[in-house]
Amino acid sequence: MMAGDASCSMGPIVLLGPPGAGKGTQAKLITERYGTPQISTGDLLRENVKNGTALGLQAKDIMARGALVPDELLYDMVAERIQRADCQRGCILDGFPRTPAQAEWLDAFLERQLFDNSKPRTGLPIVISIDVDYNELLLRLTGRRTCPTCGRIYNVHLQPPRVDELCDVDGSKLVIRNDDREDVIRERLQAYDRQTRPVADYYDRKGRMVLVNGNLPVDQVSTQVLNEIRSHAVASC
Ligand code: AP5
Repeated sequence: MMAGDASCSMGPIVLLGPPGAGKGTQAKLITERYGTPQISTGDLLRENVKNGTALGLQAKDIMARGALVPDELLYDMVAERIQRADCQRGCILDGFPRTPAQAEWLDAFLERQLFDNSKPRTGLPIVISIDVDYNELLLRLTGRRTCPTCGRIYNVHLQPPRVDELCDVDGSKLVIRNDDREDVIRERLQAYDRQTRPVADYYDRKGRMVLVNGNLPVDQVSTQVLNEIRSHAVASC
């Protein structure tokens, strides 16, 4: 970690990209570098499903078939998370926004925060879009394994753990996400094309989007992502 990075104020960063692009992998690396939290709407929803909350009960079947959860179910969950104290210096939004309506909602929400002196000042997001070829996405999603304890992400083809099926960090048995089945993966990729690609156009029109090549190994993608954060997003260090 570079000296001083953890005290930088960088505003919100949106990681945009199809399922399997590496949003979660890169978000964790940015968190390690800058100390700003990762907000993954997928993780938050899975937590709600696991805990059987009202939101989780509504989202469960939708997520299991690879469709998007309706916009209005997400807003309170995201607003509550962004307003926590740990987001004061910024946050990494992983998997949100995913529709143009969510992007408009986020801009309006952050603009209200900018003018409200009682709330942490966050600024408007810089959007880093991670571009990956279709066949590579399939390989990444079918090979993904996750540690249920620390959340570390592996891939049996591309980033295997040191010991088969066990987490390098805490030795937990790795799990397969239940939406990483081939039929559901296909539906998730179609949902991305239909509903999330227009989000890139939305931010592009506003001049707030940068593109990185996500087909490269993790460290080479991180180099591009961190360079973009340094040149566009880091407001004060
Ligand atoms: P979510 O959890 O957000 O899933 P996703 O967008 O489908 O993205 P993934 O987590 O599958 O992929 P990723 O890009 O994070 O890749 P990762 O780093 O893991 O959403 C799940 C569901 O929740 C949605 O389908 C929807 O139902 C609902 N939902 C969530 N947010 C919503 C919203 N805003 N609106 C409505 N509904 C919402 O990497 C993948 C694999 O590749 C790993 O195995 C990793 O090790 C490997 N890998 C990563 N980078 C590289 C690399 N550079 N080289 C080689 N391997 C790599």
